[in-house]
Amino acid sequence: MTDPAHGIRPDLTLVQLTDTHIMPAGKLMHDTVDTSANLAAALDMVLASAAKVDAFLLSGDLTDNGSPESYRRLAAAVRPVAERLGAQVIPAVGNHDERSAFRAELLGTEPSTEDYNAVFDVSGLRVVVLDSSEPGKHDGHLGQAQLEWLGKVLTEPAPRGTVLVAHHPPLPSPVPTVHLLRLRDAERLGEVIEGTDTRLVITGHAHHAGAGAIGGVPVWIGPALAYGVVPVPPAGRLRGNAHAAFSRIDVFGDQVVATAVPVTPAASVYDVDEAERLTMFREVVGLW
Ligand SMILES: [Fe+2]
Ligand SMILES: [Fe+2]
Repeated sequence: MTDPAHGIRPDLTLVQLTDTHIMPAGKLMHDTVDTSANLAAALDMVLASAAKVDAFLLSGDLTDNGSPESYRRLAAAVRPVAERLGAQVIPAVGNHDERSAFRAELLGTEPSTEDYNAVFDVSGLRVVVLDSSEPGKHDGHLGQAQLEWLGKVLTEPAPRGTVLVAHHPPLPSPVPTVHLLRLRDAERLGEVIEGTDTRLVITGHAHHAGAGAIGGVPVWIGPALAYGVVPVPPAGRLRGNAHAAFSRIDVFGDQVVATAVPVTPAASVYDVDEAERLTMFREVVGLW
């Protein structure tokens, strides 16, 4: 019998873990959240799914205080899982990160406070990482040199197109604090990517999921793994809740689809055999 999942799996899958805010051992974020436990729960979900993962995108605020110890804790959690899955690890810098420790502990390169921009090839999908952080600031910035570099990178299209990873969303936010800390001068980024093979801009930082567009290119704001900012809080309040989530970014042909994945436990509504259900649905849509 034909595999009921035949022809319906994505060509490529990227797992976006953003705003992990890993803390030094024994410390809780806001005295409440065990961010390492959230990361472990997300990685366990990915492993249990037996999904084929091509890359992990770590889109900034990887640690809470930028300490080498925190990066080592992050690497110790992610690397073995990535190796087991044969997935690349693609990190980006956020406003809570420290570039020298990020480089030394995650990239194994010489410490440097220069902004970290890089290009990765994931089976023909070009992943461009842009450093939207600026040391000492929490809002996002891209320099002229970065934008010119990006323009050059995008001159030649990639076989499966390009996704751009940057920490700060180039979009307004309905949460006023997030809005104040968004990417500055985002329209300049839009001008560079408009008309190129860029299919999705992937960001984090907001701690709430969201979507929009810039320069005609869709933007995905991945929900945070550390905790969630409440987009509709009670009047006059700003609220963060202990909701953890990550994203999967799937490539189907020339389409790139972003999907939020809640990690925080919830009651089950159904839990059925996949092959049986797919067989039934194939019959329903007339696939056999
Ligand atoms: Fe964050
Ligand atoms: Fe951030």
